Order: sequence, then structure tokens, then C-alpha cells
Amino acid sequence: MPRLTPRVFPATRLRRNRASDFSRRLVREHQLTPDHLIYPVFVLEGEQQREAVPSMPGVERLSIDLLVELAGELVALGIPAVALFPVVSAEQKDLSGSEAWNPDGLAQRAVRALKQAQPELGVITDVALDPFTTHGQDGIIDHDGYVLNDVTVEALVKQAVSHADAGADVVAPSDMMDGRVAAIREALESAGHVNTRILAYSAKYASSYYGPFRDAVGSAGNIGKGNKFSYQMDPANSDEAIHEVAMDLSEGADMVMIKPGMPYLDIVHRVKTELQAPTFVYQVSGEYAMHMAAAQNGWLDGDAVMMESLMAMRRAGADAILTYFAVRAARLMRDQRR
Ligand code: PBG
Repeated sequence: MPRLTPRVFPATRLRRNRASDFSRRLVREHQLTPDHLIYPVFVLEGEQQREAVPSMPGVERLSIDLLVELAGELVALGIPAVALFPVVSAEQKDLSGSEAWNPDGLAQRAVRALKQAQPELGVITDVALDPFTTHGQDGIIDHDGYVLNDVTVEALVKQAVSHADAGADVVAPSDMMDGRVAAIREALESAGHVNTRILAYSAKYASSYYGPFRDAVGSAGNIGKGNKFSYQMDPANSDEAIHEVAMDLSEGADMVMIKPGMPYLDIVHRVKTELQAPTFVYQVSGEYAMHMAAAQNGWLDGDAVMMESLMAMRRAGADAILTYFAVRAARLMRDQRR
């Protein structure tokens, strides 16, 4: 006689909702759309200039005319904003990075051209001196190479106001000096730029994932064996990130950023849940390079890991993501909707 046993089944089968696309869509907790993407671009002097960045396959430095052409596609794809990173020649660099606040500098001209061609595309500028200093540091240094805080803040204020004068919608200090957000806010207000937003790189870590970016802007050779440990954050710290973000918000930041992205999603989550402010994350050059290298070797499915990495940032709490994948991801989303 077979023994009668009561039928055992799991009371809840979480797999039921996963069984079909329709129910997976209905229960999906987070969304990724082009609205969440910001495209960082490297800007070159000249016309019809386009240069590949070897450590960032698929990324090119572009002259302003080509950038303006690209801007049309960004708008068509629904990407809300670009972040500009100028690449200037060695002759334009000096000890104090004075090219940074040239009203006719490359960044300032790029802003004007973009706002004229595509007024609805948000333009974000990087406020930091590293593309313009001979030593590749983000600020002004003393005889020992130490980056001086308060003199650097004065320079950053001039740079930020020159960007706003050119029409930048958002200025993004990425330098990590103390007190720079308050100083920039005050100067913008006095100059009448009351609606120029500040996206503060609040929790910016001293990361080795920035290597390919330094190749792209040509600061890698300048910084050499130097580092940014005296101003960027120690990767071992988390409470300090909350402190930084809270300070920047109280100084008048409109949005805050965590950088890098994927290795720091715990920070993104803490910042979003503890401070509830607009929280952005930067999927930096090294993260892009890793994904691309693996995909090019056939070790990972490039499109799939790209989308997964971006969704993971949204799930962690990021409102928007600066990513070199912005255009590729937005094209993929457009094609999937068709
Ligand atoms: C410098 C700056 C850096 C990045 C953005 N702004 C590099 C650095 O701090 O050395 C890195 C971005 C990236 O790696 O994609 N102000």
C-alpha cells in the first residue's frame, strides 16, 4: 500500500509573477528610461575633429561643430542633458589653470553653441581645474604640490560664473574643495544667475577607475605618479559621504553626485534614503572600459550588462546616471520600443 502523504506545496510561489513578460512588467519596481541618462562628452578645438579614446572604445572627442550635430540626436533620443569636458592643448595649461575661466574658452564656446542649436538640451559643465593645469591637479598647488583650498575656491568661482554667463544650465563642481558650493552659489546669485543649478560632486572618491578619463582629457601625463588623496574621498569611508552630501545641500547644491558608480552603490543607497535629495551617480570611465573590454572579448554580452549595470544604479537610488553608455542605451531602448 502506498502511503498517503499530504501534498506539500509552497504557499507563495514568487516564480508565478516571473512566468510571463506581462506580469514581470507589472511588478517591476524600478524603471530605466532615457530620462535618467546624462551623456558626458569630451570637447576638442577645431572643426570636423573627431578623435578616438583608445582606453574607452566607442568614445570620441569631438569638436564643437560635431558636438552640435550629435546634440540633435540626443534630443531625438530623449536624453535630457550633456556634461561637457574640454580637452585643451599643452600651451593652454598653466600652474593656476587660468584658461578655465576664459570667457571664450573651449567649454564656454561649446555651451553657447549647444544652447543656440538645441535650447531644450540641458548643458552641464565641469567645474575643476585639472584639464587646465600643467600638473593635472584639480586646484592650485603650493611649493610642495599640496592643493590649496581657499585660493582654488576663488578660481572655481570664476570658472563657474563664466560657464553660467555662457548659458550653462548646471555647473558641476567636481573638485572636492571645502566650501566651494557655498562660494559658487553666492557668486551665481550676485551675478543674477538665480536658476543656474549646482550639481555637486559631493561624494567623489579617490578612485583608480578614473584612469581612462585622464587619458581622454590629457591630464594623465601631467598628474604622473601624483594622486588626489588630499581632496578626493578615501574608498574606505561611508559616513563621510553623508557628511559631504549634507554639507553641499546646506550650501545650496540642487543635485548631488556619487562617483564612481558600481563599486559605490551602497553610498548611493545611503545618500538617497538618508537625505532624499536628487541623487546622481557617475558610471565612470573605468567602469565603461571594463564593460567594453569584456564585451569585445566576447566574455560578456555588452548590451545586456550595460542595461543591467544602469538598472542596478536606478535600484540603488540614483535619479540620474552620467554614463558613456547613454547614447547606446537610449538607442537600444528606442529600438526595443519599435
Ligand atoms: C576631474 C574629473 C575626473 C572625472 C570627472 N571629472 C577625474 C579625476 O578626478 O581625476 C572622472 C570621470 C571618469 O572617470 O569618467 N575633475
